[in-house]
Formats: sequence, C-alpha cells, structure tokens
Amino acid sequence: MIAKTQQGLEPLLEKELQELGAQNTQRLKRAVSFEGDKRLMYKVNLHSRLALKILLPFYSFKARNDRELYDAIGTIDWSAFLDVNGSLAIDGLLRSDYFNHSQYIALKAKDAIVDQFRTKFNKRPNVDIVNPDLRLNLHIFQDSATLSLDSSNDSLHRRGYREDANKAPLNEVTAAAIVKMTGWNGSEALMDGMCGSGTILIEAAMMAKNIPANYLRKRFGFQSWLDYDHQLWQEVKQEGKAGIKDIKLTINGSDISWDTLQIAKSNVDKAGLTGVIKLDKTPFENLMPNAERGCLIMNPPYGERLALEEANAFYKMIGDKFKKDFSGWQAWVLSSNQEAMKSIRLKTSQRLLVFNGPLECKFHQYEMYQGTKRVFDKETKAE
Ligand SMILES: C[S@@+](CC[C@H](N)C(=O)[O-])C[C@H]1O[C@@H](n2cnc3c(N)ncnc32)[C@H](O)[C@@H]1O
Repeated sequence: MIAKTQQGLEPLLEKELQELGAQNTQRLKRAVSFEGDKRLMYKVNLHSRLALKILLPFYSFKARNDRELYDAIGTIDWSAFLDVNGSLAIDGLLRSDYFNHSQYIALKAKDAIVDQFRTKFNKRPNVDIVNPDLRLNLHIFQDSATLSLDSSNDSLHRRGYREDANKAPLNEVTAAAIVKMTGWNGSEALMDGMCGSGTILIEAAMMAKNIPANYLRKRFGFQSWLDYDHQLWQEVKQEGKAGIKDIKLTINGSDISWDTLQIAKSNVDKAGLTGVIKLDKTPFENLMPNAERGCLIMNPPYGERLALEEANAFYKMIGDKFKKDFSGWQAWVLSSNQEAMKSIRLKTSQRLLVFNGPLECKFHQYEMYQGTKRVFDKETKAE
C-alpha cells in the first residue's frame, strides 16, 4: 500500500504507520509505502492523522502513447473490481515526456474500462467524480504507468467535523502534524490564542483522547468495493471506539473574531468535544495562561494584506506577550511570513519547515523559561 501525505511529513507518517502495525515501511516523496492485510488497510484509513490517501497499487505497465495505454488497461478484467451498474472515477498524475495532460490520460483510461463493459454487457458504469464506487489512481512517470485502487476516496483530511471554514483554516493533516511536532502528549495544558475554526484544538483533543482521526467520516472508498468486508470494518471501528479515553484537562481556544468562534464552536460540537475544548472571544493581547505551564500553539494571520510594518508590529506584540505572561510555557508559532516572524524577537529552540497545503511555512518553538520574564523585566526597566 502507499499512504500519501504532504511534503515533509514522511518521517512522522512512517512512524504513525508502524505504530498502527504496518510492515516493511519505506519513505518515498510525499508518501510512505508499507505492507499489511485488509484489516490494516481499514485501520490505517480510520486512524491515520497524517495520511491523505491510502492507495493499493495493483497493475504496472509500460506505455508511450494513448493506444498502448488504452490497450494495457483493457487487459484487466474490470468486472472483478466494479459492477456494471456501479460508478467510477479516475485521478491521473503525470510526469512524462510521452504524455501531456493528466486529465487526458484519466479520460483514456476511463474509455478503456467503459468500452470493455460495453462490449461484454452492452451497458457501462457511470462516471461519478465525487462519490464513485471505485476510484482509481493512474500514475505515469515517463513510460512507467501504475494503476492503484484508492481505498480512501475523498482525501482523509476531510475528517467529518468541519461544518464550515473561516478564510484561512489549517488543513487537518497539517494541524495534526504540528501538534505531534511539539511533542505535546495530553498531560499538560494546551492553548491556541488565535484559534480560527479550531483545527489545532480539535486535532490535539482527538489525539489526547485517542479518538480515531476519521471516526466521524461517513464513507471510505473501500466500503463500495466488491470485496468489502462489513464485519471486519465493524470490528476495526469497534476497536477504535473502545480505545477512546477520558481526559481531565481542558484545552482552551480564543480568537478576536466572534464569527470565526461560531464556526469553531460548531466544529467542536460536531467533533463531540464540547466539554473538552473551551472557547472564548479574547484578543491575544489580553489572553492569560490557564495553567502554570503548558503548550501554546498559534497560527497567526500571515499578514499578506498588511503593510510590512503592521505585520511586524503584530508579530512583535505576540513575542512581547509570550515574554510578559507565558513564562513556564512552550510557545509555538506557525506562519509563512518569515520576515514578520523575526519581529517576535525571541530565541527559537526549534525551527521546523511545514507545508500548509502548498504554502511553505515555518514552525518555530520559543521556550519561555520561568526566568525569561525576569530577564525581560530587567531589560525593559533598563531601557
Ligand atoms: C490564520 S487564522 C487561524 C486559522 C486556524 N488555525 C484554523 O485552523 O482555522 C488566524 C486567526 O487569528 C485571529 N486573530 C487575528 N488577530 C487576532 C488577535 N489580535 N487576537 C486573537 N486572534 C486574532 C483571526 O481572527 C483568525 O481567526
């Protein structure tokens, strides 16, 4: 199987897959390959916080033109994978000197499949790009083509709790990854002072409570396959449910925008985390920590629409606030605005590269030791 992910998350994903029971894992570009049985495929779809798709490569061949592609795909008995009354979608992915458009190769592959059905049954499956019974992935690198079954269908970052999104929500996979990167393990307080739609808070709470990442998802690709084992899926889901634990801790989120908080509230409710995540309308300037020590993770506005001076002043405010009120805390900031991040003016203890979708971001850690506030007070008094 191949678990696809975002750039840079391969090592974290490999570790996660191994913890779920994957064998012979190997890191690839934006993916990790692994071995396992059907139970593991169901389990990884349900539990992985870092995978976007779980693919099952099943046929590799050489093709240098449309005809070769069409003929090779026509050699597979497609009735073993799909009912003639079912529906189909094909995602094409291309890096080749022999073919030009990924949509075109997907179309050719679809033609080969539906033509085979028409010849055999005088009928053909429909194309449904949103909710097909069978989603295939056709990957061509130069003249090497691989067909895979897509066991997830919709991307796994669609967990099923997001009602609506504010303008700049974090991708759920990115949010889960950054919480993992902080090393937070649910034993200390966690806050997000610019929580937006609450993605970081929800992913953190799900992790702490051991709620399977895709517990709320209504549908996975493998559920409409001809070999779908409903009994096995129920067992895997039941095991996931049995592993959910209670946590004492509350997780706090705040934001300056009332409207955004309404979206966060709806997402938190939908995720079943109402008692675990507490939300407040508070500007970060006025926020106070909810414990002596803990982990503060923030994804401030990147400030694209602001003049650089304004963005710098905003990030300076963030750094000043860390020093003034968050001693004893680990503070982490995710932003693509590297210039403005310099205005935080605190020593970083880790500087990580993270992609939020295609956007390159930095994820910086600032350790606010108890002494940091005293040093800062002395410095400001001396100024
Ligand atoms: C990039 S978004 C955060 C997105 C969030 N991580 C999510 O997944 O939805 C930045 C958020 O910071 C909030 N914000 C801007 N200025 C703020 C301030 N001074 N205090 C608190 N929140 C602020 C915005 O309302 C916005 O929701």
